[in-house]
Amino acid sequence: MTTVRRVLAVSPHLDDAALSAGATLADFAIRGADVHVVTLFAGAPHEPISPVARAFHVRGGLPQDASAVALRSAEDRAAMDQLGARTHHRGFLDAIYRRTPEGRWLCGHDQAMFDELPLDQGDLRGEVCRDVRRILAAIDPDLVLTCAAVGDHVDHRLTRAAVLDAAAGARAPVLLWEDLPYAIGRPPPPALSETPAARSDAWERKWRAIACYPTQIRMLWPAHVDWAAQLRSHAETRGQGSPAELLAPGLS
Ligand code: CO
Repeated sequence: MTTVRRVLAVSPHLDDAALSAGATLADFAIRGADVHVVTLFAGAPHEPISPVARAFHVRGGLPQDASAVALRSAEDRAAMDQLGARTHHRGFLDAIYRRTPEGRWLCGHDQAMFDELPLDQGDLRGEVCRDVRRILAAIDPDLVLTCAAVGDHVDHRLTRAAVLDAAAGARAPVLLWEDLPYAIGRPPPPALSETPAARSDAWERKWRAIACYPTQIRMLWPAHVDWAAQLRSHAETRGQGSPAELLAPGLS
C-alpha cells in the first residue's frame, strides 16, 4: 500500500471501530498517519426511550435517559485517545432509539436490530450517505475503513451501504472490517483477507482502548466471560497463531 497519511474509519456505534479494527487503526497512528474515527449513530435519544432501549441500558448499567449517550461518548473519547485517533461523533439515532415513519418503535424486541429491517427508513439512508460524503470531502483520506456488517445489525448495514455509496468514485479505497464480537465462532468470511500484521504495541493499544468501554463490555459479554481472552483467541485464530484483524476490499 502506498503511504497512507490520513485514515478515515466510519464506525456505526460507540465501540465498533475499536473492537473490530483497533489494532489496524493504532498501527497507522503509530506509523504517523492522521487517524480519524467517525461514529455515526451517536445521537442523544428523545425521551422517553423505548422498552427495548430501557432493557439495553439496564444491561449496560447506563442511566435511563439521554445522558447514557453522553456517558458512552466519553468512553469512546477515552478509547480513541488510547488508539491515537481523533474522535468525531455524529447525531444519528441508534436503531434502539428510532421510530418507523409510521411512528412505531423500529425495534419491537431485543434482537430486532438483527432482523431483516429495510435500510430505507424514511430518508435515513440518504441522510447518512450525504453526511459521510461531507466527511470524506472534509478529511480527504487516503484510506477508508468501515464495517462489513457481519451479524447483519441494521445500523452496521446502513453504515456499510452509506460509506460504499459515498466513496464510489472517490480516490480513497474502502476496506471492510470483520465486525466483532459478532464474528467470533464463525468461519472467516471468504471475501475477507488478513491485514498486514500490526505491531505488538498497536495490539496493546487496542486492548487498552476496549477497556475504556465498561458499559459495552457489560452489554456484550456475560460477567463470567473473559472478553480480552476471547478477543485475543479470535485474533490469533484469524492470524493462524499471530493476532490479526481481517479486512476486505469494499465492493459496492
Ligand atoms: Co455496533
